[in-house]
Amino acid sequence: MSKLSIFLVLFILFLSSCQKKSDTSNLNPEVDLTIPDEVLKLGEKTYTTVCAACHTEGNVTMAPAHGLLAGMSPHAVLAALTMGKMQEQAASLSQEEKEAVAQYITNKKLISIQFPESAFTPFEISTEDILAGFNHSGWGGNLEGTGYRNLEQAGITAENVSTLELEWSFAFPFATQVRSKPAVIGKWLILGSQFGEVYALDRHTGKIGWVFQADAAIRGAISYESNGEEITAFFADYATNTYAVNIQTGKLIWKQRAAQHPLSGVTGSVAVYDDIVYVPISSFEVISSQNPIFECCTSSGGVTALNARTGEVIWMHRVIAEDPKVTGKKKNGTSFYGPSGAPVWGSPTVDAKRGLLYIGTGENYTAPATNTSDAIQAIDLKTGKLVWNWQATKNDTWNLACPDDPNCPDPIGPDVDFGMAPILVYDSINQRDILVVGQKSGVVHALVPENGQVLWQTRIGKGGALGGIHWGMATDGNLVYAANSDNVYALDPADSTLGPTPGIYALNLQTGEQVWKMAPPPCADGPRKECQQSNSAAPTLIPGIVFEGDLNGFIRAYSTTDGQVLWEFDTVREYETVNGQKGQGGSIDGPAPVVADGMLYVNSGYEMFGEMPGNVLLAFKVKK
Ligand code: HEC
Repeated sequence: MSKLSIFLVLFILFLSSCQKKSDTSNLNPEVDLTIPDEVLKLGEKTYTTVCAACHTEGNVTMAPAHGLLAGMSPHAVLAALTMGKMQEQAASLSQEEKEAVAQYITNKKLISIQFPESAFTPFEISTEDILAGFNHSGWGGNLEGTGYRNLEQAGITAENVSTLELEWSFAFPFATQVRSKPAVIGKWLILGSQFGEVYALDRHTGKIGWVFQADAAIRGAISYESNGEEITAFFADYATNTYAVNIQTGKLIWKQRAAQHPLSGVTGSVAVYDDIVYVPISSFEVISSQNPIFECCTSSGGVTALNARTGEVIWMHRVIAEDPKVTGKKKNGTSFYGPSGAPVWGSPTVDAKRGLLYIGTGENYTAPATNTSDAIQAIDLKTGKLVWNWQATKNDTWNLACPDDPNCPDPIGPDVDFGMAPILVYDSINQRDILVVGQKSGVVHALVPENGQVLWQTRIGKGGALGGIHWGMATDGNLVYAANSDNVYALDPADSTLGPTPGIYALNLQTGEQVWKMAPPPCADGPRKECQQSNSAAPTLIPGIVFEGDLNGFIRAYSTTDGQVLWEFDTVREYETVNGQKGQGGSIDGPAPVVADGMLYVNSGYEMFGEMPGNVLLAFKVKK
């Protein structure tokens, strides 16, 4: 991630939140938008004493100046303080002070959004719903994470895909990114959002059955388990709070914090199997590192196993076995800590047959590098004991202070994490299971599930910080379909030999040989300020079709035979949504689209790394 792209992120946020203010005031004409004087005074005092030292123009690299913060929505500023990048800086503030400073900085009142009554529908769930064959749960749609849906589950074919039409759209208020992947259960979709609401939406109409409020952003997919009587949804928020919610009532059953480090987070999705919830642990020290006085870095990636009935911790696995120590001095004379990092950004994959859980890990944040960064690990499902560890890239020490700020480690690694969940798939020709996983290095790896030995490796991209495979691949046991991002920001201008090669790649599962590839089409004229030709989101596979979005906001259906585009839709536009909020489409990144029973659900909007913000879930329906 370059600094240029972070600037773009903030700038885009600024533009988009300007628009939002007028949207909300139009929608709620009776709401008084003046901020009480005492709130402004408290906000000013808080700002001057706590924030101004960094946020005054030119004081701290990367800290957006007051003028830029003023363009944000007060909700986004409050979210930065309570659940985002500024949690640590705001740790000493009361809720009242946080709300006051958010309103003071933006000069906009914090108001809660009222959805019109027509946005709701009674929540009811039938036995049919619970047993529906097209139901879908978790990151890859199944425990093995294959991203594959059969014909009966999909209800869409290569013959009728061109008749897909937009059926409804739903807008997440104030949101600039849509990252939570819906679970499907009969007539319902369950999904989370940037400001922590979890919705049950009628999948035919987009109307709301219930809303549950979590404490922080939900970035991952919703998983669920049914014991025949009760159906429970499981998910984790950005701050590692993990929740069990009764799907029939929308009410909390238990909540448990899954990590102890103050900057640990959850960016992936939980996996649920046999009454245990597996929570992947990453950390935001990678961002805090930008602050020169931050004591970098002491966190380790991990997995926490929780009892699905009670939320009690069963075991915790640390990716870095050693505790961090002082390891020397930084350029500015203060102490460096390590080893650190190796976050589990993605989701765990369950291997019920071998009793193993597979995870992919990211870079070390500081030296010394460990042999567990940029690695795949197999962990015992019951005990949390490490069974094997296979490292793809050694010595990858990197954080967002790189290349120039004091917290940047030396030497600087390439930042080639594993972001996606490893996929366990049965190879029917050789009659064996294979673990396939793509890396930000641009390489797809196939491993032996028992021991992590390499079967084959195929390079499909240049790779780098925003290159290679980010969110996923999908496979039907015949071919492996991989989305290669190779975003232009990953391009090293000094390297003239290897260009980026973004696109969808089909590889032979047995050998890793490339069968076809399809680059994103050239950029058409349109409303986009710039063209980002990149396939970063995870794909979904059904017989005959790979569904994949791109950073330009297009969702496409590619033929599995040769990669030809069978259908596409440009999601970058405004939407009149079923919940009465202005909707805006943007970049498609993160989770794969969900296909169920003749419908396709697509998230649009991803404000990060210079991508286009947006706030909609779009539902398409095929004319059968
Ligand atoms: C020690 C320096 C420091 C202090 C103190 C500080 N900030 Fe920040 N702030 C930063 C930096 C650096 C960034 C940019 C982080 C990034 O983009 O990764 C930032 C980013 C932000 C953002 C944008 C967050 C986002 O998600 O893009 C907001 C809003 C913000 N700060 C508000 C505040 C408020 C309000 C206070 C006081 C309560 C505060 N900050 C105190 C350094 C600081």
